[in-house]
Amino acid sequence: VSMPITVFRRVGAHFEEYLSQKPRINKSFSDLSSSDGSLGTDEGLFEQPEPPSSSKAVVEKILWQRSLQMRDVQQAWQESSEGKRMLEFRSNLPAYNEKEAILSVISKNQVVIISGETGCGKTTQIPQFILESEIESIHGAACNIICTQPRRISAMSVSERVAFERGEKLGESVGYKVRLEGMKGRDTHLLFCTTGILLRRLLADRNLKGVTHVIVDEIHERGMNEDFLLIVLKELLPRRPELKLILMSATLDAELFSSYFNGAPVVNISGFTHPVRTLFLESILETTGYRLTPSNQIDDYGQERLWKMNKQAPRKRKSQIASAVEDAIRSADFKDYSLQTQESLSCWNPDCIGFSLIEYILCNICEDERPGAVLVFMTGWDDISSLKEKLQAHTVLGDPNRVLLLTCHGSMASSEQKEIFEEPEDGVRKIVLATNIAETSITIDDVVFVLDCGKAKETSYDALNNAPCLHPTWISKASAHQRRGRAGRVQPGECYHLYPRCVYDGFAEYQLPEILRTPLQSLCLQIKSLRLGSISDFLSRALQSPEILAVQNAVEYLKIIGALDVNENLTILGHYLTKLPMEPKLGKMLLLGAILNCLDPILTVVAGLSVRDPFLTPLDKKDLAEAAKSQFSGAYSDHLALVRAYEGWKVAEIDLGGYEYCWKNFLSFQSMKSIDALRREFKGMLTDIGLVDSNTTSCNTWSYDVNLIRAVICYGLYPGICSVLHNEKSFTLKTMEDGQVLLYSNSVNARETKIPYPWLVFNEKIKVNSVFLRDSTAVSDSVVLLFGGSLSKGDADNHIKMLGGYLEFFMEPTVADMHQSIRRELDDFIQSK
Ligand code: CDP
Ligand code: MG
Repeated sequence: VSMPITVFRRVGAHFEEYLSQKPRINKSFSDLSSSDGSLGTDEGLFEQPEPPSSSKAVVEKILWQRSLQMRDVQQAWQESSEGKRMLEFRSNLPAYNEKEAILSVISKNQVVIISGETGCGKTTQIPQFILESEIESIHGAACNIICTQPRRISAMSVSERVAFERGEKLGESVGYKVRLEGMKGRDTHLLFCTTGILLRRLLADRNLKGVTHVIVDEIHERGMNEDFLLIVLKELLPRRPELKLILMSATLDAELFSSYFNGAPVVNISGFTHPVRTLFLESILETTGYRLTPSNQIDDYGQERLWKMNKQAPRKRKSQIASAVEDAIRSADFKDYSLQTQESLSCWNPDCIGFSLIEYILCNICEDERPGAVLVFMTGWDDISSLKEKLQAHTVLGDPNRVLLLTCHGSMASSEQKEIFEEPEDGVRKIVLATNIAETSITIDDVVFVLDCGKAKETSYDALNNAPCLHPTWISKASAHQRRGRAGRVQPGECYHLYPRCVYDGFAEYQLPEILRTPLQSLCLQIKSLRLGSISDFLSRALQSPEILAVQNAVEYLKIIGALDVNENLTILGHYLTKLPMEPKLGKMLLLGAILNCLDPILTVVAGLSVRDPFLTPLDKKDLAEAAKSQFSGAYSDHLALVRAYEGWKVAEIDLGGYEYCWKNFLSFQSMKSIDALRREFKGMLTDIGLVDSNTTSCNTWSYDVNLIRAVICYGLYPGICSVLHNEKSFTLKTMEDGQVLLYSNSVNARETKIPYPWLVFNEKIKVNSVFLRDSTAVSDSVVLLFGGSLSKGDADNHIKMLGGYLEFFMEPTVADMHQSIRRELDDFIQSK
């Protein structure tokens, strides 16, 4: 029995060997620590004044001369008329009032925490205060200030702004450095960079030689990188007593940070904002002449609909209002909100808020309201681009003489960024469609109206790629407050929350820190890929650490699936998994799907497991729904049923019949759309890491070799496996840990009386009274043996004989041969059973 486990390991090793032979990947592995691009491992963030061989006296003299020069340049700028005008602008910012206090606290303490409302001048002013005061005291050339930003775009835009405020070009005293891009020079002494860049630098130089000040901005976001960075910096401080650490944040739990840094002082910058009128969905819709009231009507799916529409003579533009309202109602579909639990919240249409509703509100603002820019918070880039397309086709909103339509998101080019801050011509209204990046890190000055869709894509940690996370989630009350606050910066404003008040009431106060909401398995892999030492040691030093037992379980799991070796080091498979920001089991499926060239269905399976269950089962139509799902069965697999359902939808969608198809088959249209988008995203990631050729349009050579797909699913889901034991009439299921387990009634396998396979692999196990399995796929012995581990007892001889053949073909040089043989062998094996 132990034999197959060894064999399994060897087979696993062959996959890894294959992965490690990919030349492009190999390069990036050996190059891991400098994968932030042009910043090489050994290149410091700042230039050293002279080659290391120079004597101390020579270096000091050079520093002195440069410092004098810097002071002269600064004084000349401050005395120029433009410099004076700039100083006047700056001195009106709330942060400026605290300038002396802040500098004095910094000089007396190693760690200082600064908080203040967004827009009060933290990011642009505080690093400048430090730089200016160093220059005035003729230490300019000896000081090196790093200010980290969670996102590359804010690092770039802020550095440009600060250089401008200093009357310089970017790359003189102020520079920036983000992944693959940067602008800095010999005289750069204030560097804005992403948190990831500084983390990388710390790997190469644990002491941050030459750096005098580290400013970590936007810590209230509690991003993974920032929390990681704080652990590393906290350790560094005693070794570098002269290094200053400044933490900055908008709204913040200052106590938490202060006590983490042994009671470091907190400076609070008080600011001023104008009142903002707040409207939730109910009141927005009332202005249309429609009234929405909660109701318990049951719709055709047997779902409870929250809202009933009471028509009261609409004032104007009947059809437009009607579609806006309809849109809002569709968004409110499907669940009983009165529950107000997180679960019911997640049932509010998660991926798309009513575009017609947004269009309607924007149109009203443009036609009736006072001047002022509009900021629309959308969930993610997909939404922004589809909404932009829709608006561009609109008679008013698409008219460039009336509307300047801009977008603001993490991956925009720097030329696009500038436009956001510019004032439009008279009579033209600026509308910016933004992600939550405009919540705190980017301030658009002239905003008077804010539209808030209430969702954001939570970023998952991926220091290597900065890859975006995939799940839209509800924002917190704190975020909603931030979004609202953007409307009141220059004059009283208005905020339209595009969700009902009761949904808002269910929001969490603050967003959980990323380190606590990221799945632990992925978190552990990231710690390893950043080479931060023992996982449990490292996490125990965090600001808020996950539970120890949970961490141990995650490490154990990672060892079982082959991502970590016995010494807790990353395997090659593990390295690949850190590049795919999703659960490791899903990452494994994608990798093997790509290698075995059956990616197309696997993309659907993985995307399907990443969204809300696309198969709907309304309570009073349960039988109908289950019957609908069973049309897609036939392979003893829920995962393959989804593949079929999706492919049917794809065909229907071409003739715009996608919605009807979903309706008929009890499928969620939204989930289908999300699957479609996720498939593209996943494929892009695989292309980025070099496993899929971007030129090939189709990755589905064998999309219907069901047994190959089974094998890939098994490779991902193992050790989620149970054995199938038949008796005369039906079958029972057992797992090693739980004994007998049951299937969810909507599983295609629950409708079978016989399953001609000895095993089911499953995605999720839920304990209610009994243990229930969700989404299962039947697999054969050989598949389990090769792509899982062995749980089977007996029949060992047979297994071993078969494995002889398998091992041989795994040695074969080309992947094509590998496919052929796997296919043949699997076919033969299954036929012979
Ligand atoms: O960091 P914090 O949110 O406290 O504010 P900031 O980013 O330092 O911005 C302070 C002010 O500088 C903003 O209110 C804008 O008026 C101005 N600013 C600008 O005009 N252009 C930029 N690119 C950034 C800031
Ligand atoms: Mg800021």
